[in-house]
Amino acid sequence: MRKNIVAGNWKMNKTLCEGKSFIEELKSTLSGKQLRCEVIIGAPFIHLASIAELATDSPIGIAAENCADKAEGAYTGEVSAAMVASTGASYVILGHSERRAYYGETDQILTEKVKLALANGLTPIFCIGEVKEEREAGKHFEVVEQQIAQALFSLSAEDFGKIVLAYEPVWAIGTGLTATSDQAQEIHAHIRSFIANKYGAQIAEDCTILYGGSCNAGNAQELFSRPDVDGGLIGGASLSVEKFLPIIEAF
Ligand code: PGA
Repeated sequence: MRKNIVAGNWKMNKTLCEGKSFIEELKSTLSGKQLRCEVIIGAPFIHLASIAELATDSPIGIAAENCADKAEGAYTGEVSAAMVASTGASYVILGHSERRAYYGETDQILTEKVKLALANGLTPIFCIGEVKEEREAGKHFEVVEQQIAQALFSLSAEDFGKIVLAYEPVWAIGTGLTATSDQAQEIHAHIRSFIANKYGAQIAEDCTILYGGSCNAGNAQELFSRPDVDGGLIGGASLSVEKFLPIIEAF
């Protein structure tokens, strides 16, 4: 069964102290509420163990924002998927456009990261999406197909079935320019049929596909009402409980 998910992505924001108070506040705000989606917070590595502990016995799942493409060894400064899993986090955001653009993450590197994440029991939240010029040239379908095929189509059907996808048009990230719900629905449906061609209708039907890019309290309900939009990956609006809660409640 396909899941609805609202996932925050703090990026490089919040000190440990700020991160802990956010989780305490969100936990108490959600307590006793009937949720119609899973709630995840993606946080910097150094926050993971503390916030995962605070989130115990709450509906909040914890995600890392990255992991290494190597299992272990002499890779100074890197953090492995096994280390992420050992903190109590259950998810890892991979292939975010900021990682692709600023840290040179290629499809090949991302395949390694996805495989290591899965091998360590983490659920990858795998990001794809076109830049503005590609959208304007009408190449957005082709771009996301390439990103999915090149990084993920070497996975077995069983492994692919464990992945959450996040369609995040780069032109909408942090810009206040959201894709319309028609644009989101159109490309999500396209992604789902592309997956069906490779892995079959059931796996495609069960795949959670999130929308990301200036998703907020004002547009979440409209976006999430579309049949192929299964929730959101939220950057700016995940930095305060006040802004994040209405997005959770949009389901
Ligand atoms: P945004 O970021 O909501 O601030 O646009 C989304 C993301 O990058 O995941």
